[in-house]
Amino acid sequence: MWNETEAARLLRVTYPIVQGPFGGGLSSVELTAAVSNLGGLGSFGAHIFSPAHIRDIVVRIGERTASPFAINLWVDNEDPAMARFDRASFERHVGRLHAHYAALELDTPTFPDRFGQNFDEQIEALIEAAPPVISFVFGVPSPRIVEACRSRGIRTIGNATTVEEAHAIEAAGIDLVLASGAEAGGHRVSFLEPPERSLVGTFALIPQVRDAVRIPVIAAGGIADGRGVAAAMALGADGVQVGTAFLACAESGASPLYRAALLSDRARHTTLTRVFSGRLARAICNGYSEEMAAYGDDLAPYPAQNWLTNSLRGAAIERGRDDLLSIYAGQSAALLCHRTAGELFDALVRETRQVFQARAGGHFKFLGA
Ligand SMILES: Cc1cc2nc3c(=O)[nH]c(=O)nc-3n(C[C@H](O)[C@H](O)[C@H](O)COP(=O)(O)O)c2cc1C
Repeated sequence: MWNETEAARLLRVTYPIVQGPFGGGLSSVELTAAVSNLGGLGSFGAHIFSPAHIRDIVVRIGERTASPFAINLWVDNEDPAMARFDRASFERHVGRLHAHYAALELDTPTFPDRFGQNFDEQIEALIEAAPPVISFVFGVPSPRIVEACRSRGIRTIGNATTVEEAHAIEAAGIDLVLASGAEAGGHRVSFLEPPERSLVGTFALIPQVRDAVRIPVIAAGGIADGRGVAAAMALGADGVQVGTAFLACAESGASPLYRAALLSDRARHTTLTRVFSGRLARAICNGYSEEMAAYGDDLAPYPAQNWLTNSLRGAAIERGRDDLLSIYAGQSAALLCHRTAGELFDALVRETRQVFQARAGGHFKFLGA
């Protein structure tokens, strides 16, 4: 059976289908638990949350599912340029957004005590909470962390955007590698080279990573239906991670405004941009991304840029202003047609089986949703 892979065995799931984690408050306990209860691996992106909040999330997901689930953290949570990001830089960047704060009737933000979370504090709390799986992006955790996970029976997934990163993940003793192609929605999570030099597409990346490492490979980027799952597995993947298609489902943490944008014709046009967070990410083009493109790379570093735009987001949602929202999405957004996690998951399983059966019968015809 197509689903009986090494990745499924290691993750202890029926289907090697991972619901991608979403940072920025877009993950939800409901979606994570729903996907795990359907026999896949639900994931929760926790990088913006405090250690106490992360412990609470693990408990709440555990109350809703007895099946494995993953919690995701960003190993590198702060750009080096943050060391030079002082009050004067802050005021300059706030000044550029002043008109938007005013239009949304928001107070002009003042320099905060901290712009983001500390990874060391987060991972300590997370290991203590011991979720079944932890996935990492933007780097490789230290040997101490990998060993602490192993000794508690926590499976680990590392995220690679190049073959070199896949090698580094395997060498660190991580259990599975996620090969993330440039089609994927959200941040380009490269850590060895700048993301602009790590833009290999999913179709080219999967077989290269498969050939380079011995650990199971999960493919991500542009997969939104059974054809994508079957293609990824034919290229050597042991499983897939689907992000944008799950984000559009009712159970996700995305607002109705965000979901409407994902399901609209505008989703056909995504771009790689730093304007929302300071780090390169794939998002639907909108008024804000076009306006801020004029500043080129002259943006606040991560997480300061993210902090500055974060305060716009809540008010933008309240006022229906998706021109000011960061609408992260992958290139497969134009394929989206399911509205709940159950419908999407059933379709992924059914269509993948159909593609493999059709191939076995000599007819390679997709039978549709
Ligand atoms: C809004 C959004 C936020 C994301 N946040 C994270 C994150 O915090 N951590 C992570 O590992 N991946 C994150 N991702 C990537 C997804 O988990 C997944 O790998 C990716 O969406 C797969 O590509 P696809 O969008 O083409 O399906 C995010 C993706 C989106 C669309």
